[in-house]
Amino acid sequence: MTEVFYKPQGREVELFLAAHKLKMSVLLKGPTGCGKTRFVESVAEKLGLNLITVSCHEETSATDLVGRHLLMGSETVFVDGPLTRAVRQGGILYLDEVAEARPDVLVVLHSITDYRRQLFIERTGETLVAPDSFMVTASFNPGYQKGLKELKPSTRQRFISIPFTYPLPGPEAEIVAHESQLDLKMVKHLIQIATQIRNLKELGLMETVSTRLLIDAAKLIGEGIEPRLACRTAIVEPLTDEDEDRIALTDLISMQF
Ligand SMILES: Nc1ncnc2c1ncn2[C@@H]1O[C@H](COP(=O)(O)OP(=O)(O)OP(=O)(O)O)[C@@H](O)[C@H]1O
Ligand SMILES: [Mg+2]
Repeated sequence: MTEVFYKPQGREVELFLAAHKLKMSVLLKGPTGCGKTRFVESVAEKLGLNLITVSCHEETSATDLVGRHLLMGSETVFVDGPLTRAVRQGGILYLDEVAEARPDVLVVLHSITDYRRQLFIERTGETLVAPDSFMVTASFNPGYQKGLKELKPSTRQRFISIPFTYPLPGPEAEIVAHESQLDLKMVKHLIQIATQIRNLKELGLMETVSTRLLIDAAKLIGEGIEPRLACRTAIVEPLTDEDEDRIALTDLISMQF
């Protein structure tokens, strides 16, 4: 088994492992592309547990998580949803962008994430008690939740929260070089660009350049695309559609490449 590459930024691995041992749920807060998913994959592997991920969106309902009756041939059978499967297996359920989900999802989570650790499956009348290894973890991007998409305190307070942000320049360079296989010297130019963009507060960007985009730019360069074009395609265009911001970003890039 190959180990998932994850470079810790602080005490997050230790905190997560402690939370797992203590049967606590963990919320990972942070902007897009900063390593939350990679982190969960890595800790699940360390714990030797199955990771079941649900990408939540406005339509995600409790039924989607718990399961539903489906017609199979002439019979209807109850098919476990991801939450039920994770409980049965004693795995880790990862709810990506949990704030997007419908409120009934959060209700189902309450009894499974507090001291009861119970899942009541209304459709079958079954009550499951989660094994010790079962855990719920979720992600939340405080930056772009549009006003209303805030989690209620009764949900927030069932999760301990670990903040994530982009790695510091040194570690970020190592991550980008590792993921893209691009020469560290070239990667350092990308990191310089990222540092400058992240400090440019006057741009109207919704969110700034992520580690993910830097890796994409590095991979394009590795494929032989000229650095300026790679950065325009992987950094400038994904970040903004405004001409003024595009010009500012392009100028910044041409100082490095
Ligand atoms: N600390 C890290 N160690 C190793 N790789 C990292 C780290 N941080 C970021 N990465 C790299 O950045 C990429 C993007 O990270 P990831 O997909 O985990 O972001 P995310 O925070 O889950 O984003 P989103 O909120 O959009 O889902 C990963 O594929 C990985 O290559
Ligand atoms: Mg993710």
